[in-house]
Amino acid sequence: MDGHGHRPRHGGSGVTPDDARAILRANDRGGYCVPTARLYPFQWNWDSAFVALGWGSFDEPRAWQEITSLLKGQWDDGMIPQIVFHAPSDDYFPGPDVWGIARTPPTSGITQPPVLATAAHRLWTHARDRALADAQAAAVYPSLLRNHRWWQAARDPERRGLVATLHPWETGMDNSPAWDAALARVPTETVTPIRRRDTAHVDASMRPRGAEYQRFIHLVDLFRDAGWDAARMLAVSPFRVADIATNAILLRAERDLLALAARFGTAAEQAEIGARIDRLDAALERLWRDDLGLYAAMDLTTHAVIPIGISAGFLPLFAGHAPARAATLAATLARWAGRAGRVVPSTDPAFPAFEPRRYWRGPVWAVVNWMIAGGFAAAGDAATAARIRADTLALIDAAGASEYFDPTTGDGIGGADFSWTASIYLLWQDGTPA
Ligand code: DGY
Repeated sequence: MDGHGHRPRHGGSGVTPDDARAILRANDRGGYCVPTARLYPFQWNWDSAFVALGWGSFDEPRAWQEITSLLKGQWDDGMIPQIVFHAPSDDYFPGPDVWGIARTPPTSGITQPPVLATAAHRLWTHARDRALADAQAAAVYPSLLRNHRWWQAARDPERRGLVATLHPWETGMDNSPAWDAALARVPTETVTPIRRRDTAHVDASMRPRGAEYQRFIHLVDLFRDAGWDAARMLAVSPFRVADIATNAILLRAERDLLALAARFGTAAEQAEIGARIDRLDAALERLWRDDLGLYAAMDLTTHAVIPIGISAGFLPLFAGHAPARAATLAATLARWAGRAGRVVPSTDPAFPAFEPRRYWRGPVWAVVNWMIAGGFAAAGDAATAARIRADTLALIDAAGASEYFDPTTGDGIGGADFSWTASIYLLWQDGTPA
């Protein structure tokens, strides 16, 4: 509930698959979905990967179209931007004028967690229309390969294994407490005047704070001055972290890309992808924290592990990394559940930084739950996967397909009628634990 006339459904009336499909149709702007009306009026990168899977449950041509629309924003160097500005809107800041990137369609100049190859692979393996899926997967495979090469060249040029993210928006988990210390090194001064629009759509108590936005925009100013050149951005950014979500999602995406390469690529490409998988799988091990019973991000400026428990810390299981740790991770999750009520809170509820209603500082997010549950299921822990699925579906049934949920009350908060939440609801209709 946001106090601005933009209300998630409440009251336990239940959501049906028809409702979820109607959300995708209502958010369709012609070949791509906005995450939700007004708050996010363009196409977002990782949102669209999940949304493609939602469409895939009932309209496979439209699912592939979601991916090809996003790829219209892919840069020549292979980067897939965080936002593609297919059509103008005054509802969002920062818009294309602030990014200042001369291309058609305009895009932002940073990226987001690379779920796309996983989405394409899943659409391909679950296809009902085999001829369509083969043709579409063959068509997108080269773009996905170029994108994964970009991750290595732009964000791990020394081939140490973990890729860097240079902006909290790139992690998708913008105001996570995991970024507090690294973000504090970013100055608050901006050249660009800050004209936030998000707090006109959603209550400010559920969004990042003002100082965080100043630092977010400082980084945009800095990267624009660097001419959006990947090497210069990596060199000048005062914010440089090895995000667990990005690295785990990339490892999973590389495995899915390898499966596509076996059908659509060459032997040399398979060897190239296989080498990246080995390097990243080994490097993820450096992020394990015995004291947290969880993986944690690393600050690449100081090379210190960031000792904050966040939900992304469960995602290496989704990447097939160290399934033997599933029991330890399940015990950690059970501790979090005991305190928060519903899983998976985005921050360890025992941490002082936990805020159950503020965006990525505590709320539950359906897409993260789907990936975490998939990891537990693949590691053989069907009970934990089923618990996560049940909590997620109960939250959506009670509060609607909200952007995120307060784990302590079950309230649906943030934006309403959210495309990726509706998509996860559809994906979980088939009764599988993940
Ligand atoms: C926002 O503007 O809040 C988005 O999370 C950026 O991707």
